[in-house]
Amino acid sequence: MKTVQKHDLSFDELDELVRPAPEVVEFEEVSNKMVSRRGFLGGGVAVGAGAFVMGSTTLAASKALAAGSEESRLAFKMVKANALDTVTVPEGYKWEVLASWGEPMFSSTPDFNGATGGTGASQEAAFGDHCDGMALFAHHGRQILCVNNEYTNLKTLHANRTDGVPTTADDIRKSKAAHGVSIVEIAHKNNQWGIVKDSEFNRRITADTEMDITGPARGHKLMRTSSDSKGVVAKGTWNNCGNGQTPWGTYLTCEENFNGYFSSSDENFSLTPEMKRYGISHKDWGYKWAMSDSRFDVSKEPNEPNRAGYIVEIDPLDPKARPKKRTALGRFKHENAELTIASNGHVVVYLGDDERGEFLYRFVSKHKYLAGGNNRDLLEEGTLYVAKFHDNNRGEWLALTPKTTGMTEAEISIHTRIAASKVGATTMDRPEWVASNPNKVEVFCALTNNKNRGVKPNAGGDATPASEPNPRVENNFGQIVRWTPMNEDHTSSDFKWNLFVLAGNPAVYDDANAGSQNVNQDNMFNSPDGLKFDSKGLLWIQTDGNYSNAKGFEGQGNNQMLVGDPETGEIRRFLVEPKECEITGAAWNTERTTMFISVQHPGEKGDSHWPDGGQSVPRSSVIAISREDSAVIG
Ligand code: FEO
Ligand code: CA
Ligand code: CA
Repeated sequence: MKTVQKHDLSFDELDELVRPAPEVVEFEEVSNKMVSRRGFLGGGVAVGAGAFVMGSTTLAASKALAAGSEESRLAFKMVKANALDTVTVPEGYKWEVLASWGEPMFSSTPDFNGATGGTGASQEAAFGDHCDGMALFAHHGRQILCVNNEYTNLKTLHANRTDGVPTTADDIRKSKAAHGVSIVEIAHKNNQWGIVKDSEFNRRITADTEMDITGPARGHKLMRTSSDSKGVVAKGTWNNCGNGQTPWGTYLTCEENFNGYFSSSDENFSLTPEMKRYGISHKDWGYKWAMSDSRFDVSKEPNEPNRAGYIVEIDPLDPKARPKKRTALGRFKHENAELTIASNGHVVVYLGDDERGEFLYRFVSKHKYLAGGNNRDLLEEGTLYVAKFHDNNRGEWLALTPKTTGMTEAEISIHTRIAASKVGATTMDRPEWVASNPNKVEVFCALTNNKNRGVKPNAGGDATPASEPNPRVENNFGQIVRWTPMNEDHTSSDFKWNLFVLAGNPAVYDDANAGSQNVNQDNMFNSPDGLKFDSKGLLWIQTDGNYSNAKGFEGQGNNQMLVGDPETGEIRRFLVEPKECEITGAAWNTERTTMFISVQHPGEKGDSHWPDGGQSVPRSSVIAISREDSAVIG
């Protein structure tokens, strides 16, 4: 049997290989799915070629678009799909690289070395790998960019080793330093964006940076380890995916696939059900961190995984401030943290757990936000809720409390997935980014895809029958769900919902896989992931999906970024990315004349030399996009 090399797989494929969901297909589940599907199709939903629409807004939009009767709010000409190894933007737009993996942040940092991937010391003073979520902070005319560095490609990071296998302690030091968060001052000088080397704000936060554990889990026995007997100080953050930003000036970084870094030196070590629910196994995903750091050996430090999987709050303007793990926002595979202030002053944070059949969450702070007041610890205390979607376009938030779950507050914070299963939350098609409309009380979440929908339960054994918000079995294309809190109150326990778009391929399919009516052969895509609103109220949609451009995905080309108008349902492709990467993260300068996005893992399977070209090693990079005429973007 051919041995599958881990670095030849995409992150998603690797996840499935290492931790497949249980193989269970129950007839009852299958028949439920069929009934549910019929109910969905019958519920006022148009079916047919390119017509699979639900929700009054989408329906109205489609009519308006078809009739050409509404003027579009999207001020650019759509880019065609392609499979080129470059970035393609609309006519009248331009792009440039702002910062790439390995780029020096200080004048003493050695130049990037693509032949070796650098050293531990060079990486600790350089821009991290696999850039993802980001936020830009304006400070007295200066601009400080916080960027997540989610994970690494073993072959490129460890180019100094045979087949990318980390071998020495310095390889592990480099790997840990390539993860985390890069905080850099940036400037537009000589008509070019770049890092301001040696800025006092430049800082690397890595898998070894000390951070305070705050909230209900602080000090709990499940958080104690041999190096931290009190369970109050964690070391490091890694697999930082999406992000959030607070109105009190802090950055939120979100720990996603933290499990893939743990392994067990004792092959007989018995994994607890809680460990299994979070994907901890005897084998890591090739990072080998346990080789030189026993924290990552679960047979030696069984509580260490309990200290990862959180939202971490960082003050970007104080390089000495210790980051804070906010356990009140729960522990799961956090995608992003979309923060909004409810009309009654409470802080609301929407949170997705990106795993097949896992859940969508909401945090409501105990205390209220006060403009200009002391808001620094509002994320320390509050209540977590999990979403229950009903098939009548209504939904509710179920509180996770000791009363509803039979668990203590600390246990709810640490084993949040288990608490959510207990209250009967709706299993979702991999909740990725959540985005809240700044101009209206409505929220969107990208449900990227779920090939296990209707096929296998989630890792906790919860059934995953097709349901209206997750309507397609073996869902390869994904959808975006929108909900409107009742009474325009983000803290309300009830909401109405509909699907903003069902992605698909109307060139290949004439069934539900054709997608909703606002998807056509010109704008089609698969696997929506990143979502972010701009100040105009346009929804930017970034994909992380199948870029084979073949079979069911023929004509869709590389991953891409699109813009959607929530008012009309219109969606236009704005950008096509280089080969074998995903687009993720977004930030704008204050004037919204420049947009920053992450181009992550170009050439993850070996077929890209972006951005440097020739035979160079591909490098994840943040790019800056602007208009030739310097006008507002979008
Ligand atoms: Fe890091 Fe779910 O994407
Ligand atoms: Ca993502
Ligand atoms: Ca994704």
